Amino acid sequence: MGETSEITFRKMIAEDSDAVAEIEIKSFSLPWKRKDFFDMANNKNAEYIVGILDEKIIAYAGAWIAFEEAEVMNIAVDPDFRGNGFGKKIFAELIRVCKLRGATAITLEVRPSNFAAVKLYESFGLKTVGRRKNYYDNPTEDALIMWNTSITSDKPYNNQLFISCL
Ligand SMILES: CC(C)(COP(=O)(O)OP(=O)(O)OC[C@H]1O[C@@H](n2cnc3c(N)ncnc32)[C@H](O)[C@@H]1OP(=O)(O)O)[C@@H](O)C(=O)NCCC(=O)NCCS
Repeated sequence: MGETSEITFRKMIAEDSDAVAEIEIKSFSLPWKRKDFFDMANNKNAEYIVGILDEKIIAYAGAWIAFEEAEVMNIAVDPDFRGNGFGKKIFAELIRVCKLRGATAITLEVRPSNFAAVKLYESFGLKTVGRRKNYYDNPTEDALIMWNTSITSDKPYNNQLFISCL
């Protein structure tokens, strides 16, 4: 990594699926497939971004947007680039784009053994509010359910519209 290298972010597009799936395979025991990312890139209810360093995708993150809630589905940094602050930067950028979509709360599930991720999320104000028993396979492990219910919104969702649609 060059000294002047600065990570930049942009929306994930379908053509990024191969590069993203490669990092996914290096990061998880049950990785999402290339097609899963291809589909997310084209899904209007999802917000996916990639982090680019020296013209190479080195990180990605994505969330599912359901009204005012953003559920983080994926986040990973290429193992060769971890520990350099890129995880923090891409998570901050994900929150920013979710807020632009009107999200005011963010939630996710994480393995309790994933100390790096739990610490990262806590640094963004997420708190553990519950546990899903044996949620993960390979290896079997509970999931911590984490929430930050008050990320402030730059463009609040129109609750009136939601209520009138019920
Ligand atoms: C979680 C992950 C995205 C963090 O990315 P990263 O670029 O290494 O993280 P950063 O360098 O920005 O560090 C952010 C914070 O995470 C925590 N952290 C990072 N690496 C850590 C480690 N090895 N041990 C403990 N905490 C760690 C620290 O709190 C750190 O903040 P600090 O340096 O101010 O103390 C990365 O480890 C990863 O891709 N893991 C595999 C995929 C994964 O588990 N995703 C989460 C699924 S829920």
